[in-house]
Amino acid sequence: MAAIISVRAALSLMPERSLLMPVGEDRMKFAIAFAAAASLALIGPAFAEGDVAAGRTVYNQCRPCHQIGPDAANSVGPTLNGIFGRKAGEVPNYNYSDANKNSGLTWDEATLREYLKNPRAKVPGTKMIFPGITREAQMDNIIAFLMQLKANGDGAE
Ligand code: HEC
Repeated sequence: MAAIISVRAALSLMPERSLLMPVGEDRMKFAIAFAAAASLALIGPAFAEGDVAAGRTVYNQCRPCHQIGPDAANSVGPTLNGIFGRKAGEVPNYNYSDANKNSGLTWDEATLREYLKNPRAKVPGTKMIFPGITREAQMDNIIAFLMQLKANGDGAE
């Protein structure tokens, strides 16, 4: 995305005369700061986090085994509502493997990334038979999706 705001563009965006606008050298400093802030605001999120809508599509890979949303029940795997920030093995009435239950993991961003890349490497003996997500963009997006998925199922659709 070509979203870098040039100092010249920032200067042209700033009103010529305003009580709030600095003049002279200060005006240039202000323009540089403005350009940097505007560039960060535009390109920052693309680098820092994935896309929730795209993550919902990646989630189709999980759907055969996991349910989400207000009416989600456990199936092959436990419901993933509210998974982000929760300890491994804590969904009620789901029969986890000992490997998962005793993993001591908390599903934060770092552990989810490792687990979803290669579940059986991160939790040897897990009964989640899933080859793993290897594409970086897909990983960013599924993480963004799981992060906003609430314990009551909000965010699923
Ligand atoms: C083929 C079925 C299957 C698929 C596909 C699958 N999972 Fe799982 N998942 C499981 C099973 C079974 C478990 C329980 C693991 C255990 O107890 O060892 C599990 C467990 C998990 C856990 C740990 C839950 C907890 O409460 O500790 C997470 C997180 C998870 N899966 C995320 C995902 C995501 C995200 C996807 C899609 C990218 C996915 N899974 C795809 C079957 C699957």
